[in-house]
Amino acid sequence: MITERIDPTDSAAFDEWHGALVEASAAGREFAIWWPLEEMRVALTRRTPYFERELWAVRDEAGAIAGVLYLDLPQKDNTSLVSVELAVVPGRRRQGYGTALAELLDERAAVRGRTIVHTMVHCPLGGEAPGQAFARARGMTMGISDMHRVLQLPLDQGFLEELAAEVAGHHRDYRLVSWRDRCPDDLVDAYAALEGTFNDEAPMGELEMEAEVYDAARIRSREDQARAQGRRSWVTVAIAPDGTLAGQTELHVSGNEKVNAFQSGTLVARAHRGHRLGLALKVRNHLELQRTNTEQLVMHTWNAEENTAMNAVNAALGYRAVERTEEWQRKI
Ligand SMILES: CC(C)(COP(=O)(O)OP(=O)(O)OC[C@H]1O[C@@H](n2cnc3c(N)ncnc32)[C@H](O)[C@@H]1OP(=O)(O)O)[C@@H](O)C(=O)NCCC(=O)NCCS
Repeated sequence: MITERIDPTDSAAFDEWHGALVEASAAGREFAIWWPLEEMRVALTRRTPYFERELWAVRDEAGAIAGVLYLDLPQKDNTSLVSVELAVVPGRRRQGYGTALAELLDERAAVRGRTIVHTMVHCPLGGEAPGQAFARARGMTMGISDMHRVLQLPLDQGFLEELAAEVAGHHRDYRLVSWRDRCPDDLVDAYAALEGTFNDEAPMGELEMEAEVYDAARIRSREDQARAQGRRSWVTVAIAPDGTLAGQTELHVSGNEKVNAFQSGTLVARAHRGHRLGLALKVRNHLELQRTNTEQLVMHTWNAEENTAMNAVNAALGYRAVERTEEWQRKI
């Protein structure tokens, strides 16, 4: 078995690696999601001070890629952590390729000084996945179980307006402000500060995850990357009467494939909970999206199963569960 490092700037090598990644990690999953080829190429070839990444492949005796390993190494926070995607193409499973990649992962974690390994295992609803037994065999434990839910867009306009009207009375003192792609300069510091509280505010189960360090420069870097990827973003925030940023929600639409949309973070700061802002923010953001985008898209979101508040908001919008995503970790 030969393992090799893949250079993302070598387009032929990267294309082959990405094809194997999709084949291996999407096998048997109707709603598998990974970065589309060109979006991932942009993310991996732009210089960023926030992450370093490593791409590896293991080849079979005929020279074809049998399995892939992707390492994500945060640079500004969580510097003990390595987030990992490790997958073997279906026709090459149970032949030791996964183990070869896991051993390589241990070597690379040691070289990079990382002591916490984090990975996702996607499981069918009510069923098991090979990744669970594999992770257990590698000494990992499950840190938290998330549900992957989807929502078919566009939503009915009248339904959204009714929901907005239903909750309006609860958040009268708050102002909702929306933007596309670029956060207004006067909000960017507050927005970065709120983003940085995510890992402390969302349920993390047993996961060893530190707060991320966010500032305006990091927000701008993320926006620049999304622009280069052809992604479009919609953000809505709630501003409290005293001017503080009380909450936010973000969604992204992939520019290349026009199939999927992603509901990423929604957060209401602790002091401002109980005003139905979670639902109000999401409803407003969907209304903003639908002012210009009425394409058929599948919106994806992931939430901890124990996150009852967020799950209630998603149920009100009509999300349905499609798979369970378990987050596993190992301390070295
Ligand atoms: C999990 C995965 C990477 C395993 O790859 P693999 O090449 O089949 O793994 P190996 O052949 O090295 O298996 C190592 C051990 O893992 C366990 N294992 C792997 N697949 C298993 C399965 N389907 N059922 C039960 N145990 C399994 C066994 O203990 C196995 O040892 P054994 O074959 O001697 O019994 C592969 O199934 C896959 O790509 N799944 C989708 C992505 C994923 O879940 N990644 C895991 C992230 S940790």
